[in-house]
Amino acid sequence: MDKKLKLAVIGHPISHSRSPEIHQDFANQFNAKIEFRKHDVTSDTLGTWLTDFFKDGGKGVSITLPIKEVALSFADEISDRARLASACNVIYAKDEKLFADCTDGFGLTQDLEGNLKTSLKNKKILILGAGGAARGIIPSIIEKYPAKLKIANRTGSKALLLKKDLEGKVNLKEKNIIFEAGGLSDDFLLSDSYDIVINSTSVSTQVGKSIGLPKALFSGTRLAYDLFYSAEKTVFMQEAFENGAEKVSDGWGMLVEQGAESFRLWTNLIPDTSRLLEKPID
Ligand code: ATR
Repeated sequence: MDKKLKLAVIGHPISHSRSPEIHQDFANQFNAKIEFRKHDVTSDTLGTWLTDFFKDGGKGVSITLPIKEVALSFADEISDRARLASACNVIYAKDEKLFADCTDGFGLTQDLEGNLKTSLKNKKILILGAGGAARGIIPSIIEKYPAKLKIANRTGSKALLLKKDLEGKVNLKEKNIIFEAGGLSDDFLLSDSYDIVINSTSVSTQVGKSIGLPKALFSGTRLAYDLFYSAEKTVFMQEAFENGAEKVSDGWGMLVEQGAESFRLWTNLIPDTSRLLEKPID
């Protein structure tokens, strides 16, 4: 690649984004020249921003909260992953068209199975939360054939809607996956034990805040995984560890791995993620 590749990350807020340094690390591995900027973009400014960016020679954009869903409507082609997630975290230009894809679920399963050596096959998995973050990861989890998948959300009806939506898109019976959805009641949460518990709620964005889960939830848990990443252990991670989870992790590895998959879509190059995975977060 001789020409500087024009890339960006957009969302609102955006100042906290670590994407520029992640992609710069990937680019350095191949001596590729990139320009990667952060831009504060809302759903109101998204259409104009995308038009200008791609008209100006832009190659690819990472898309973060809260515009992952609305961004789909600006793409000419939508990948299966993005269609199943009803959201995209990447848009890129190819053959005069804009393609939308969702690499979040790939990033998560790559981190769980590849980095943390925690296979999802035949496992019982609990997902806390039923918002956009849950939508982004569930299709990729289903692809790994867990034995059981449960979605528990503060607003139980939202979990049921998400389940219904997915059942209309994926043949879960054919995959032999037991799929349940409900609220955060102790009865629903404690009616199973879970190999893996994933926190996709936005609670960890508020420092010191607890979801208020029953302690017994984590007995028998091999891995408690928070999609949020931070320098300190989140309250979810602390509580999971104190109450019996063998291993806890934040979502830094997922962020790096989804970035690597996005970088591959933009460049056809597969970066090595190991250095970034080791790097402490400041
Ligand atoms: P995102 O796109 O990051 O998933 P979202 O769509 O706003 O953001 O969803 C946030 C998720 O966190 C929701 O599942 C929300 O539960 P509700 O659907 O009941 O709102 C969950 N959440 C937010 N605050 C919470 C809290 N204090 N306790 C439990 N769940 C919470």
